[in-house]
Amino acid sequence: MTNINEDILKLPKIMNGTLDGDWNSIYSRNTEDLNRIVRHVDFKNKEIYSVLSSSDILFYLYLNGAKRVDTFDINSLTYRYYYLRKWLFESGFLDAKDLTIKEMNSIIKSHRDANDINERESCLLWQYYLELKQKEKFYEEQFFSFYNDALFENCSTKFDFPYSKEDIKKLLNKLNSNTLDFEVTDISSDSYHSSKKYDIVYLSNILDLKTANKLKNVMNNMNKLLKDNGIVVCTNMIEHPYFDLFSEQIKIFSECFKYEILDVELRGIAKNPVKYYKYIKK
Ligand SMILES: C[S@@+](CC[C@H](N)C(=O)[O-])C[C@H]1O[C@@H](n2cnc3c(N)ncnc32)[C@H](O)[C@@H]1O
Repeated sequence: MTNINEDILKLPKIMNGTLDGDWNSIYSRNTEDLNRIVRHVDFKNKEIYSVLSSSDILFYLYLNGAKRVDTFDINSLTYRYYYLRKWLFESGFLDAKDLTIKEMNSIIKSHRDANDINERESCLLWQYYLELKQKEKFYEEQFFSFYNDALFENCSTKFDFPYSKEDIKKLLNKLNSNTLDFEVTDISSDSYHSSKKYDIVYLSNILDLKTANKLKNVMNNMNKLLKDNGIVVCTNMIEHPYFDLFSEQIKIFSECFKYEILDVELRGIAKNPVKYYKYIKK
């Protein structure tokens, strides 16, 4: 759970670029080809702990048969964004890319009197975002702004999970019958604690830019979080221009995990490889 007052206070600082720390912006859509993973990993009836981020991973896991998905992220605003994505589905949209402030205002304010307190609080935050946007020096009609000190990261739609009308109906049934379990967590912290155990932990790109110490902490945390034979699902950019600890990561994880490659994709101007892989608990 997150604290709405803290979330609201963070918002203008993120938008004017004065909030310290990494991971303050929200990924508008998923950054990886989720279908490459479902070909190799069976999510059916599994209990999963996943990064929330754009919420697409959560949606995709439910559509692929997950029994229960609990979520975490270091960025508390991803929780507020989850509600926005749900409201967009309810209004027949997959995301807010082509929507204006006016259109979003009408979707957001219709949740002002929602029964669920988390929906009502998220509604307050998004109304405040609209107010701040309207006061910006360069006023834009579009709900999203992706440049300078914006709240959102622009993610390519080329990996968008192709939600059909059927998928959205199925998803909304699932989302409306389960309250989202979310915690603000740094998964690379050395004081991480969880009383729950999972079949799968979904990390996405989280291991990309970590130091050896942090990688060791994530490995220990994964070991605590997983049931016997549980797996960690990851994606990682290789030959990253700033930092590439991939071989060291595999070595650190080998203490408690077996590495298995799932797929490789070539991406970007330099066509650097992005690896899709899993770690299986020994
Ligand atoms: C590169 S994005 C992944 C985007 C993802 N593929 C999606 O579909 O939205 C990484 C996400 O992990 C979160 N994150 C990064 N480091 C983290 C950490 N140490 N603990 C928890 N969450 C973290 C970020 O806030 C962000 O939402």
